[in-house]
Amino acid sequence: MKALILSGGTGTRLRPLTHTGAKQLMPIANKPVLYYALETLRDAGIQEVGIVVGHTHKEIRSAVEDGQRWGLHVTYIVQDAPRGLADAVRIAETFIGHEPFLVYLGDNLIREPLREVVLQFASMGSNALILLSSVPRPEQFGVAELVDGQVVRLIEKPTVTDSNLALVGVYVFDHTIFEAVKSIGLSWRREYEITDAIQYLVDHQYRVSAHVLTGWWKDTGTPHDVVEANRLILDSLESSITGLVDADSSLSGSVVLEPGAQVIRSVVRGPAIIGRHAVIRDAYVGPFTALGNTVQIIGSEIENSVVLAGTRIENVPVRIDGSLIGQDVLLLYNRDYRPHAWSFVLGDHSRADFR
Ligand code: DAU
Repeated sequence: MKALILSGGTGTRLRPLTHTGAKQLMPIANKPVLYYALETLRDAGIQEVGIVVGHTHKEIRSAVEDGQRWGLHVTYIVQDAPRGLADAVRIAETFIGHEPFLVYLGDNLIREPLREVVLQFASMGSNALILLSSVPRPEQFGVAELVDGQVVRLIEKPTVTDSNLALVGVYVFDHTIFEAVKSIGLSWRREYEITDAIQYLVDHQYRVSAHVLTGWWKDTGTPHDVVEANRLILDSLESSITGLVDADSSLSGSVVLEPGAQVIRSVVRGPAIIGRHAVIRDAYVGPFTALGNTVQIIGSEIENSVVLAGTRIENVPVRIDGSLIGQDVLLLYNRDYRPHAWSFVLGDHSRADFR
């Protein structure tokens, strides 16, 4: 079975962080979210992957190249404008051919292995299989209504719904989906919705089956989602210390300290990952924190946060918590400046110099 990863789009909900990067390359526990998708597809036995790319195609191509690193063969399919998920599927028809295929949204993280889903589709005689997960706020997603386990209705971002089953960003289709994506019109948000294309299948008596996930699933579309996804991944982190820890520091819990990283007169409480050549000095790094390559945390405390590569945080007088901080940010304070609490979403290259 071939797979299609959708990695176009605009990433507006992650602004200002995706002004300078593709949202599918946002690091979760220091690894781009798209890499998790490639690993999941490889582990499901898939070898041929098409990646739909938009205006961030250069960054995605240079991060994934030909897919060899995962034992995959990757083909890039360029979508000239983000016209919606159904449009992204439509333009991939030549790549897909006539066989059933899997669609994976490139900003989604899913814990459940997909091998079973692929095998299930082959044996069930359905035209489409959707994956669902019960969520507290269904109105932020596409939502499916089931009767006796059969899909009867799908709505994209409904204002009111009785169902709490969100469409997870993984679908399996046979060739009938191409008829559907060519037949639907634009939605209220001026996109060709895959949700509407699946509703077309239901309306035309094609068989649409559903599989409700038991493990976690996360759409990394917003800064809050990124911090949350980072927690979920770090929760199963295994320790590996290849950097340097001085005698005045202590590490506890699962900690990954990558080569060239230094911990000096500091406390690190895992789960936490500290990237290559990062420097932690006179600092505290608490649970569920991911620090990218060359990050410097000096005289400051941070936990439950994601800090991208090249950022320097110095003498911040209160603990930074639940924050997403972009690349090459400078966050510099005087010790005697004492605000009560801070929570940040700072875009790439920000400067916040309060010295
Ligand atoms: O995350 C699950 C949700 O994903 C589902 O519940 C929704 O039914 C589904 O429509 C989708 O909603 P989003 O609004 O979150 O989709 P988003 O615009 O974030 O796009 C998902 C991925 O597809 C992302 O990696 C960008 C890519 N994409 C998006 C568009 C609009 C494309 O490749 N081309 C596009 O034209």
